[in-house]
Amino acid sequence: MKWVKVATLDDLWEGDMLDAKVEGEEVILIHREGGRIVCFQGMCPHQEILLADGNFDFVKGTITCSAHEWEFDMKDGRGRNPLGCKLFQYDVRLEGENIMVGVPTDGRLRRLRHSVEEEA
Ligand code: FES
Repeated sequence: MKWVKVATLDDLWEGDMLDAKVEGEEVILIHREGGRIVCFQGMCPHQEILLADGNFDFVKGTITCSAHEWEFDMKDGRGRNPLGCKLFQYDVRLEGENIMVGVPTDGRLRRLRHSVEEEA
């Protein structure tokens, strides 16, 4: 796994999201209320629309794609509607103020994943 600095805590306040490109892949970073930062694939697994253009509801804890309203859980990326899909979740760690994202180096595309079963 390769750790890449994507942003700083100044760029991503609690209750906010940020889209970025990491090693050629679109990702979304979410600073959840309570302090936890999560990072998911940035392209919707349905038809590869940017999830950053969707709706982020921090009260319900959902990410909703702008195209056909697939809905994902902000906590772990699991599909709420429809069930059975899941966003790839990157590891995240802080180094001081820097938000670091762990990019797997297995060479697999992470934006095309559709199902929970694809997880290793
Ligand atoms: S492309 Fe996201 S729901 Fe269809």
